[in-house]
Amino acid sequence: MTRVTVVGAGFVGMTCAQRLAEQEVAEEIILIDVLEGRPQGIALDLNQAAAVEGYQSLVIGTNDPADTKNSDLVIMTAGMPRKPGMDRSDLLEINGKIINTVADYVQTGSPESKVIVVSNPLDTMVYLMAARLGFEKRRVIGMAGVLDSSRMAFFISEKMGGGIRDVRCMVLGGHGDSMVPMPQFSTVDGVSITALLPGDQIDAINHRTKHGGAEIVNLLKTGSAYYAPSAAAVAMAKSILRDEHRLLPCAAHVDGQYGLRDIYVGVPCVLGAQGVERIVELELDDAGAQSLQASAQSIRKDLETLKSKGLL
Ligand code: LAC
Repeated sequence: MTRVTVVGAGFVGMTCAQRLAEQEVAEEIILIDVLEGRPQGIALDLNQAAAVEGYQSLVIGTNDPADTKNSDLVIMTAGMPRKPGMDRSDLLEINGKIINTVADYVQTGSPESKVIVVSNPLDTMVYLMAARLGFEKRRVIGMAGVLDSSRMAFFISEKMGGGIRDVRCMVLGGHGDSMVPMPQFSTVDGVSITALLPGDQIDAINHRTKHGGAEIVNLLKTGSAYYAPSAAAVAMAKSILRDEHRLLPCAAHVDGQYGLRDIYVGVPCVLGAQGVERIVELELDDAGAQSLQASAQSIRKDLETLKSKGLL
């Protein structure tokens, strides 16, 4: 039996649980939150949709970490979301403490699990999670590139006048203002968008992709995006649990790839039953390589802040 734990019953966590159930990714989906009643209420509601939707997954809502034990996969969504005007880095300290608490019960209760981190600031939180868990690094992965790439794909399809199914994008680097959209590796049915759209439109798409999260924060005013983030996290979960070997941009631990070491950063990964099975090194042009280094630098700065606060 496959068990997936979703930590955090906020909007991202609850939509993750819904997608996992509807797609029957696991027989049991444990939704855990510190708020009493919320995960239980959402679980009951989702279970009451099962007869109509026709899914067999069972959702269990709980406040007790003991209920998450023996999970095959954990999706960590808990944490404060951004408010308008906030940078993802503003969440560093408060979400860092939550990561450490969760890591401690995942380490003892689900020592064989793979862990997908969604909480922000993403690249730093996944590093902290991996450090605290002490698991093999390939088993701890951050969700960001799939989301950022999916946003980029939508913006491309808008400019092209539809046809989103054939659009595949690549966004590397950190999940922040320094992320690096890669138009040369973004295609419509195999054709690079650099051959399909004029440079100024590609620049506009890149800019909108980089600020895709903030655009939604500013519209919602009281929270951040959740439909696309949960879709991205569940796509990663499926690739791992079903051993699909999909090539997806994820925040992975690099050990020399792209000239980077001891950091989590968005890179193309093959995701399968072992977690990150391979990091693919793309031939980057000078601008792309420099942007990736700059992005890594901003992640290192956040890691230093975490260390200075005694959280890492
Ligand atoms: C976003 C948040 C989840 O990009 O970082 O919407």
